[in-house]
Amino acid sequence: MADKEFISIQEAIDKGEGKVAIRGWIYRERGSSKIKFIVMRDETNIIQCVIEKSKVGDEKFDVADKLQIEASMKIHGTIKEDKRAPTGYEINVDDFEVVGPCDTFPISKDQSPEFLLDNRHLWIRSRKMVATMKIRSTIIGAIHKFFREKGYIEFDPPIFQPTQSEGGSTVFKVDYFGDTTYLAQTWQFYAEAAIFALGKIYDVSPTFRAERSKTSRHLTEFWMAEMEAAWMNLHSVTEIAKEEIRFIIKEVLKHHQKELELLKRDTKILEHYAEAEYPTITYKEALKILKEKYNMDVQWGKDLRTIEEEKLADHFKVPVVVTHYPVETMAFYKPEDPKEPGTALCFDMIAPEGYCEIVGGSQRSTDVEDMIKRLKAMGEDPKNYEWYFDLRKYGSVPHSGYGVGVERVIAWICGLENIKDAIGFPRTMLRKTP
Ligand code: 4AD
Ligand code: MG
Repeated sequence: MADKEFISIQEAIDKGEGKVAIRGWIYRERGSSKIKFIVMRDETNIIQCVIEKSKVGDEKFDVADKLQIEASMKIHGTIKEDKRAPTGYEINVDDFEVVGPCDTFPISKDQSPEFLLDNRHLWIRSRKMVATMKIRSTIIGAIHKFFREKGYIEFDPPIFQPTQSEGGSTVFKVDYFGDTTYLAQTWQFYAEAAIFALGKIYDVSPTFRAERSKTSRHLTEFWMAEMEAAWMNLHSVTEIAKEEIRFIIKEVLKHHQKELELLKRDTKILEHYAEAEYPTITYKEALKILKEKYNMDVQWGKDLRTIEEEKLADHFKVPVVVTHYPVETMAFYKPEDPKEPGTALCFDMIAPEGYCEIVGGSQRSTDVEDMIKRLKAMGEDPKNYEWYFDLRKYGSVPHSGYGVGVERVIAWICGLENIKDAIGFPRTMLRKTP
C-alpha cells in the first residue's frame, strides 16, 4: 500500500463514498465468528470499519479476530453513509494490514485520574486529550496572531536566571556547574530590558514555580504568555489583556466546535465571553461587593483567596479585572499609585466558573530607592538586581506588562476540572513523570 494513497479519517468521511485507504489505531472493537467491527481513530476523527469473513477469507479474518484496541492498521475499503455508525459513515473493508500489533492496552473504562496520569504517555491518545491539545495549539497560535497583528515583536527570555522575581519561596534552584542559578518564574525583567530596544514585545514560554499547593490550578511547570510595552500605563495594558482573552476565545470558537462538543463545553457561554465587556474594579470595590452581596469580610491588605475570587467572578459572570491591590503584599516592582496611596498600579484578571486568576500584571516601578527597600524587606540582596536597576538609570520610560497563565486559560475555555489536563505532560509538586 503506497503511503500517498492514504487519506485521513475526516477526509474519508468528507468524501463519503467510494474506495478509500486510511490508517490509524483501533479505538474500539467487537465481533462475532463471521463479522468484526473495528472503530479506527486518527488525529482527525473516528470511523467504524467492518471486516467480513466471507470477504477477507478465513486466515485474514482470524488475524482480525485477535486484534486488540490500539493496534495500528492500514485499511482499504469502500466508505458509505450509515446512520447507525458512531460518526455516520462506515468502511466496508476489502483488505487490511496490521502495522503494530498491540498488547492488552492498560487503559480501559473508569480508571482513576491518578492511573491516567501515571499512563499519560498512553492516555494522551484519548479523544478528550486530543481535543484539548488541539485547542491548546489554537490558543497559543491565537496569542502569536494577536500580538503580531498589533506590531509586537516576539522576544525570548533566558530560562536560567540569576535571581528570583516572583517570590523566593517558589523559585527552583538549579546546580549550574557548582554554582547556583534559578529557573524562570517570569520573563519580565528581561522583557523590561528588551522594550528599550524593541518597544512592544511578547512571548509564550515555559515558566517554573516550586508551588507547594496541591490545587486544581497550580502546576510547577507551565507556559506563560507575556507582553511588555514601553510608554504604556496600567489602564492601557488591562484593556489589551481583555482584548487578548476575547480574541483567544473567538479563535477557539471559530476552529473547534467539534472539540468543544466532545468536551461537552457550553459554546453559548463562550460566545458570551467572546463578545462581552469585562469590567474593571479596584480591590477596594471588590471588598465592598464581597461584603454587601456575599457577607464575606476580607481584611484590607489580605490577598483575595480562591473562594473570594470565585464569588467576585460569579457576581459579574464574565472575567473581571481587579486593580489596586494593597501595595505591601505585592512584588517589589509594582509601584504605589501616587493618586491612591497604599495601593499598587497592578491588576489580576479573574475568570468565572471557578477558574480564578488567569492574568497578572502591572505598571513597573521606576523608583529604585523604593524597590531596594522592598527587596531588603523580603530578605533579598539588592546587589543581585543591579542590572535591573540600570534600566531605570539609562533613559527610563513608563512601561507596563502582564502574563497570561496559558494552562489556566485552556482549562477555563475547555471547562476542564483540573489544570493538569491542559498540558501534555503535567508537572506538579507530586508529579514529575512520565
Ligand atoms: O501573576 P503572576 O505571578 O505574574 C507574573 O509573573 C508577572 N511577572 C507577569 C508579568 O507581569 N509579565 O503570573 C501570571 C499568571 C497568573 O495570573 C496565572 O494565570 C499564571 O500566570 N500562573 C500559573 N499557572 C499555573 N500554575 C502556576 N503555578 C501559576 N502561577 C501563575
Ligand atoms: Mg498573580
